[in-house]
Amino acid sequence: MSTWANLGLQDSASPLMEQLIFFHDHALLILVMITVLVGYLMFMLFFNNYVNRFLLHGQLIEMIWTILPAIILLFIAFPSLRLLYLLDEINEPSVTLKSIGHQWYWSYEYSDFNDIEFDSYMIPTNELSTDGFRLLDVDNRIVLPMNSQIRILVTAADVIHSWTIPALGVKVDGTPGRLNQTNFFMNRPGLFYGQCSEICGANHSFMPIVIESVPTNYFIKWISNN
Ligand code: CUA
Repeated sequence: MSTWANLGLQDSASPLMEQLIFFHDHALLILVMITVLVGYLMFMLFFNNYVNRFLLHGQLIEMIWTILPAIILLFIAFPSLRLLYLLDEINEPSVTLKSIGHQWYWSYEYSDFNDIEFDSYMIPTNELSTDGFRLLDVDNRIVLPMNSQIRILVTAADVIHSWTIPALGVKVDGTPGRLNQTNFFMNRPGLFYGQCSEICGANHSFMPIVIESVPTNYFIKWISNN
């Protein structure tokens, strides 16, 4: 989860989020190089005293400064497309979780197992325990196994919501009348926090998501006790 003064991306907990961070850093590096170059050129123009009275055209420089940016853009476009299709890949999921957005809470269904369904509400600040995270902890957490492919089906019952977990690189809109699909793979145990990220009404900020990533044998134990 994001802690105090963290302005960057959260630590990744899935291979896809790792790729997203790599792409972010790559794009940022290109951006910084362009900004420095253009900034330097604009700054140096202030101190330029030379004037070319016979300058009417410069076809060579125009060729260069048209084609060069186009090539630089390709270095962003191709990794971006690779990532886009990688995010859409479904790799034979071993567990499917259905999450339904409501105003203003999430409800979950483990359709693979016999009728496991529950609602997940945010814990209000006045009921929070001392080790709880304000506006982020919920009464019923999602429990899912680490090191396995997990499919998420997202929909909504009233208005559009968005099921978003930054550490896993997951962000899917839940839309009434539609069933959206995504998948992820958690490569470590722990708690992963998320929030709804589609402006869905007065209590939009108060419908967080918590995933408990556990080893597979613990998950089987949890499933059979429900
Ligand atoms: Cu649900 Cu914002």
